[in-house]
Amino acid sequence: MKMIFATNNAYKLKEIKLALPDMELKGLQEAGIMVDIPETGITLEENAVIKARFIYSKYGVNCFADDTGLEVQVLNGAPGVFSARYAGPNCDFGDNNEKLLKELESENNRLAQFRTVICLILDGQEFLFEGVCKGEILNAYHGKDGFGYDPIFKPSGFKQSFAEMTLHAKNEISHRGLAVQKLICFLKQKKN
Ligand code: IMP
Repeated sequence: MKMIFATNNAYKLKEIKLALPDMELKGLQEAGIMVDIPETGITLEENAVIKARFIYSKYGVNCFADDTGLEVQVLNGAPGVFSARYAGPNCDFGDNNEKLLKELESENNRLAQFRTVICLILDGQEFLFEGVCKGEILNAYHGKDGFGYDPIFKPSGFKQSFAEMTLHAKNEISHRGLAVQKLICFLKQKKN
């Protein structure tokens, strides 16, 4: 099956290709689509739908888009949908991590979860899938792999941060991995 994943994030694309080996999956750049789709929604669901609809309406190809947020309990779910821009409009992953560590400096409750929403558009019909990974925000950086908040997020029941795990191990338990597994189950049912 041919499909476009509406992302410019090479790391995410690699992560999802690993989980979908049977699919002819292309990211935006590989598909020759040079756009940065504005994420103007105020929920993860809205952003995933906006991105998938943008691609489907312009190019008419089956596609899916995801949006992820890190939801910190003591911050009432922030940074949530604003996770990419938590430290300001031109911030990078390092700035966001610094801000979060500072925000939680004297905080004992470090519970947090990553939540991913995927919007699939298949032959014009829309479907949503959600994946959640519960864990905690560490006090300092652990590990060098991954991206975003990976070095300061430790999933529940594990000793390592996401940044200390292999891509394969992260995929098995991660928010995006779980949402993708639901997507895969759905696509397999459709094929049969
Ligand atoms: P996006 O909407 O999927 O691009 O995610 C928004 C932001 O959440 C990213 O810029 C990252 O800071 C963070 N993020 C998303 N997925 C992950 C992950 O798997 N690990 C760590 N941070 C992530």
